[in-house]
Amino acid sequence: MAPRKVFVKTYGCQMNVYDSERMTDSLAREGYTPTDRPDDADLVLINTCHIRERAAEKVYSELGRLRDMKAERAAEGRTMAIGVAGCVAQAEGEEIVRRAPAVDFVIGPQTYHRLPQALKRVSAGERVVETEYAVEDKFAHLPAPAKDAPKRGVSAFLTVQEGCDKFCTFCVVPYTRGSEVSRPVGQIVAEAERLVERGVREITLLGQNVNAWHGKGADGREWGLGELCHRLANIDGLERIRYTTSHPRDMDDSLIAAHRDLPELMPYLHLPVQSGSDRILKAMNRHHTAREYLDLIERIRTARPDIAMSGDFIVGFPGESEADFEATLGMVDAVGYASAFSFKYSTRPGTPGAELADQVPEAVKSERLQRLQTKLAEHQRRFAEGCVGKRIDLLLEKPGRHEGQIVGRSPWLQPVVVEARSSRIGDTIPVEIVRAVSNSLFAEAL
Ligand code: 5AD
Ligand code: SF4
Repeated sequence: MAPRKVFVKTYGCQMNVYDSERMTDSLAREGYTPTDRPDDADLVLINTCHIRERAAEKVYSELGRLRDMKAERAAEGRTMAIGVAGCVAQAEGEEIVRRAPAVDFVIGPQTYHRLPQALKRVSAGERVVETEYAVEDKFAHLPAPAKDAPKRGVSAFLTVQEGCDKFCTFCVVPYTRGSEVSRPVGQIVAEAERLVERGVREITLLGQNVNAWHGKGADGREWGLGELCHRLANIDGLERIRYTTSHPRDMDDSLIAAHRDLPELMPYLHLPVQSGSDRILKAMNRHHTAREYLDLIERIRTARPDIAMSGDFIVGFPGESEADFEATLGMVDAVGYASAFSFKYSTRPGTPGAELADQVPEAVKSERLQRLQTKLAEHQRRFAEGCVGKRIDLLLEKPGRHEGQIVGRSPWLQPVVVEARSSRIGDTIPVEIVRAVSNSLFAEAL
């Protein structure tokens, strides 16, 4: 039989990127090789995001294009199976096959270890919708990547925690990804070791609330993320550890101490605050005030003075006044973010925020987002310029645009371009940062 090909398209967050890799690994065991052309694929899998309305709508326009492609292939006597995975799959389930009848199967983020069975049912002519939360542990049932699995590059993601119990009133995640689940230490360490064997030098631990991760360690005690970082730092060949996304309420002392004590733990922290107004933070159900957040950052900076702070912001949450928004601008100035993501509030059906009166007009959201992003860009530029003259260890990740150039990431997650003809991808080399252009840095090898 000719080898079958799979095209995977990933929307949304880094956890979806990780999930797509794991699904690709499990499909490799079923004889599928990846292709980057959907029209060439026997199986097209789209891994979807439901976080904001725009993201969810993209899925249906993509499915329209795929329906036409599937019809063209059918005219040539070839088949193409179409699968929808991820958070839209979880949230909309059957509705997807109703709206897009070309779809053969729908599989939620908690069930994708059942992908091989789903494919068998599809080839037997069935339509499959698998969005029930699985009772079995998904991670335990996912096969380890085969020895000859595709290379992962220098930097890889590793999901350690999934789901969320926080119920921020704007967010669909607790409904699409379910309640918080932590993977056990042994499983995480084994996966990290396998990644390092395959050439990975930097691992980013993923979780919707990654710093809420907890698991029993070898000593029988309950570990937190700080202890897990210590354990992973012991793996030979693993040079850098990162983690994302964190909740301010789960930033415990041992994790803060790890930032002080572990050179492998990179000085970068994505710690979303969403708003700088106590009134809005309360309406968002964030469980902390602006002052508590700032005090926390002060403690983190005492442990690791050069840490780069990153965050997420939402403008135009229902009831947000001009004064509330100005408090958010004040928060940005008080923290001095090195990078940030900012969004207009998007009403998500089924979340408490959708029921609130006093929705903010679209034009006001746009205007506030513009002002916020101007300020954030200014801080980002200032942070990057502050890096000029620093000497750092640079992990080389991929070829640059020009001959002889290699691109890596600074400890603070900025892309760094260096001329390094005698070095190789995967090497860590000492460099001096000589120039900053918005968020990109240029360096000279030392
Ligand atoms: N509207 C706008 N932004 C949202 N986010 C989550 N839900 C919404 C929503 N309904 C943002 C938050 C979160 C990030 C991943 O996406 O800032 O931290
Ligand atoms: Fe969503 Fe809040 Fe949970 Fe983050 S902490 S995933 S924003 S509910």
